[in-house]
Amino acid sequence: MATAKPVLFAGNSNLALAEEIAKKMGTRLGNALVTTFANEECRVEIRENVRGADAFVIQSLCKPLDHGRSVNDALMEMLLMIDALRRASAYRVTAVIPYYGYAKQDKKTKGREPISAKLVANLLSTAGVQRILTVDLHAAQIQGFFDEPVDNLTASFILANYLINNRKLRGPSCVVVSPDAGGVARAETFAKKLQTSVAIVFKRRPRPDVNEVSEVVGDLEGKTAIIIDDMISTGGTLVKASEAILRRGATSVITCATHGIFAAGAAQKLIDSPISEVIVTDTIPVPMEIRNEKIKVLSVGKLLADTIKRISMNRSVSEIYDQQEMELARSQSGTGGPLFSSVDDAESSQDSSVESTLEPATRE
Ligand code: R5P
Repeated sequence: MATAKPVLFAGNSNLALAEEIAKKMGTRLGNALVTTFANEECRVEIRENVRGADAFVIQSLCKPLDHGRSVNDALMEMLLMIDALRRASAYRVTAVIPYYGYAKQDKKTKGREPISAKLVANLLSTAGVQRILTVDLHAAQIQGFFDEPVDNLTASFILANYLINNRKLRGPSCVVVSPDAGGVARAETFAKKLQTSVAIVFKRRPRPDVNEVSEVVGDLEGKTAIIIDDMISTGGTLVKASEAILRRGATSVITCATHGIFAAGAAQKLIDSPISEVIVTDTIPVPMEIRNEKIKVLSVGKLLADTIKRISMNRSVSEIYDQQEMELARSQSGTGGPLFSSVDDAESSQDSSVESTLEPATRE
C-alpha cells in the first residue's frame, strides 16, 4: 500500500540523529513516551493514532549519551516500540537502526559462544518488525539473519567525499588501509572511490578488545594512509595499525569509521596517538567533550531521511547509490560539492533529493 501515512518515532539512544532525520524530512518525531518505570523496566507509550501508518522507529543499538542507560536498554526500547506500534495497528513498522549493535558476534569462533547478531534479529522479528534500515552492518551477511527486507546503507560515500573535497585526498599520493583481513573488501571498495591502491594490516586478537599487528602488506612509502574500518570501540585496532603503518614509511595517517562507539578511554587513546584525524559519523552519538580538531563527526541524517522517504513512497532505494556515485564522480573530477554534512551544519538541513509527503507530528 503506497498511500500509508509515514510517521517517525525514536527511542532515546540517538535522539539527535532522529531529530536531524525528521528535520530533513520536513516533519517532527511522533508523540511517544519512552521512559522507565520505577523498577527500571523500559516503559513505552505511543501517544498518537498510528492506525494504518507507515511507522519508522529510529534507534541505534548503542549506549545513550545522557540517560545513564545501556545498550540493552536501547534494544529493549526498540522492541517495545515495535510491539506497541504493531498492536496499535500500524500498517507497516520499519526499524531504522543506524548502528546495529551486538553484531561483532556474527558467528561462533569457538565452542559455547552465542551468535548475538542472529539473536537480535530474531528478537526484532518476534517483536513484529517488517523492514530494517541500517548503515554499514559489521558483516553484510547479517542481512541474511532476517526474513524481512533489509536495506544496508553505506556511509562510505559521505566519508570519501569528505576526504576528496576537504582533505584533497585521492589518487596515488594516498593509500587505503584495511586494519584487518576481514576489512579488505571494504577497503577495496573505498580505494576505488579514492582512485588509489590498498594495503592490509594483519591483526591478531589474543583476547577480546586486545589486538596485535602481525604483518603489513602493501606500498605505504611516502603516502598518506587512510585506514577504513566499520567501528571504533576501544580504539586499539586503529592505534596499533597506525603505528605499524608509520613504521612502514607512510607520512601520515587519517582514519575513517562509520560507527564511533568510543568505549571508555578510546578518545584519549586516539588523541594521544600519531593519527592526524579521526573521522566518524553520527550513527552513534559522539559526546561534545570528545569532539575536537582531531575527531570529526559527519552526519548520515540526509542519507537516512532520503531513504525513509523513498521507502515510504515505494521508490527505489538503489537510486540513492546511483546519485551518490554521480556525486562522487563530480568530486573526483573536481566539480562536485560535499555529500556530507557536519552534525552542526544547519544549512544542509534544507537540502533533499526527494520531496517530503510527511505531515508534522509531535513528540512529548
Ligand atoms: C573488527 O572486526 C572491527 O571491524 C573493528 O576493527 C573493531 O571492532 C574495532 O575495535 P577496537 O576499536 O576495540 O579495536
